[in-house]
Amino acid sequence: MNLNIIILAAGNGKRMHSAIPKVMHKVGGKTMLEHVLICAKKLKPKTINVVINSSIEDIKKSFLKFNIDWHIQAEQNGTADAVKTVLPKLPKDEKVLILYADTPLINFLLLEKFMNYMPQSTVKVLTAELETPFGYGRIIREESEDEIVRMIVEESEADEKQKKVTECNTGIIFSDTTALEILIGEVQNNNSRKEYYLTDIVSIANKKNLLVVPLLAKEADLVLGVNDKLQLEKTEQIFQNSKRKNFLEQGVTMLDSSSVIFKGDVKIGTDVEIDANIIFEGNVILGDNVKIRSHTIIKDSTINNSTEIKPYSIVEDSVIGSNCKIGPFARIRPNCNLEENVGIGNFVEVKATTIKKNTKANHLTYLGDSEIGSDVNIGAGVITCNYDGVDKHKTIIKNNVFIGSDSQLIAPIVVEEGVTIAAGSTITDNSEKDSLLIARSRQQEKKNWKR
Ligand code: UD1
Ligand code: CA
Repeated sequence: MNLNIIILAAGNGKRMHSAIPKVMHKVGGKTMLEHVLICAKKLKPKTINVVINSSIEDIKKSFLKFNIDWHIQAEQNGTADAVKTVLPKLPKDEKVLILYADTPLINFLLLEKFMNYMPQSTVKVLTAELETPFGYGRIIREESEDEIVRMIVEESEADEKQKKVTECNTGIIFSDTTALEILIGEVQNNNSRKEYYLTDIVSIANKKNLLVVPLLAKEADLVLGVNDKLQLEKTEQIFQNSKRKNFLEQGVTMLDSSSVIFKGDVKIGTDVEIDANIIFEGNVILGDNVKIRSHTIIKDSTINNSTEIKPYSIVEDSVIGSNCKIGPFARIRPNCNLEENVGIGNFVEVKATTIKKNTKANHLTYLGDSEIGSDVNIGAGVITCNYDGVDKHKTIIKNNVFIGSDSQLIAPIVVEEGVTIAAGSTITDNSEKDSLLIARSRQQEKKNWKR
């Protein structure tokens, strides 16, 4: 039967104390809503419906790659009201799964199991035993082994006895469109918050003798809701710990995995060593035998086999070839492409530059908008002067060039193959291959000079 997914994301998220919409806060570098959408998509639903409020319509543009039917909930009158904005637009007698955008760790295998559980029931509720149930709706069964949920009591409405119940509502509900529409139609807002609680459908269904069953998720971590920054941090840590565990199990060597942060999609080869205090962001690929030393950030980049990124280095939007040595204190800015066996040493900044194999720039250098050949030696303090105050210009350095220390190359410029540039030169003109260029003023000597 066709599956329709409704993701609730219209709440105000007041408890986050933030101008950013709650569902746009990130866990592991991705927004909470994106996590839920990725999971939803894996279930191959017929439709994905996201309920938002009109003040956050802007967020739509961040999710173009998902085929979403957006719905606006005019006023945030509660979760039942939010679902009601979608239901009449869905075909009758199809299945509907309700997810919350503030429950980002939810996993599709758990949801598949949940949807297949007890098919004869009218409503299914995914529940979890939580050590700190505060804030969650409590699951009320007649007796503990009762396989029927009699009602869900919200924290704000619960009496002392009900508050002691540790089985909580995850918010995730499965039913069919027609039954849900009837049940939601009867939800009232006569409660302390004057809201229409989706959870009230449980007692309404019971009154109609319709079967409401719970599935207790063993993996309580996967269904934690994020209402405030404390819960956001906790969720982030659960996410990070599970990534770390996966990589350790896969055979990655980490000196202190608790200090390695994975904010995005990271692929790691075999025999990779990762030291302490490292951040991976976006799409990162590490080949085999790569070594990432401490205090390093790698963002949206590929690091090929046997390359070492030494401490305190930053690599962004670039491809680093195999057997390279980068850093310590190196900065590889976006759009660099380094071939194999390249050396980029301390305090060297490289931007939008391609470097062919065996080339070295080991000390205090800026290489921007450049094409650099193979076997080039770039001395300490060399600068490509790529910017004239208005435009950026290109520097081309061909194979086997030797650039003496403290030289400046005024772009646009081409340094031909085999050229040697004397230290301290300011190179303004192109030259023939294999020449020696000396472009500095001659030393003067005034004898017996008195200060
Ligand atoms: C809700 C449940 C609670 C459950 C908990 C699980 C209700 C009444 N309570 O409580 O039983 O234990 O989630 O995390 O359902 N939203 C809307 N429109 C609204 C209100 C909320 O779209 O008018 C959305 C929010 O953006 C959020 C979700 O619904 O994604 C849940 O709302 P929230 O206010 O966070 O509910 P909780 O208090 O966490
Ligand atoms: Ca919540």
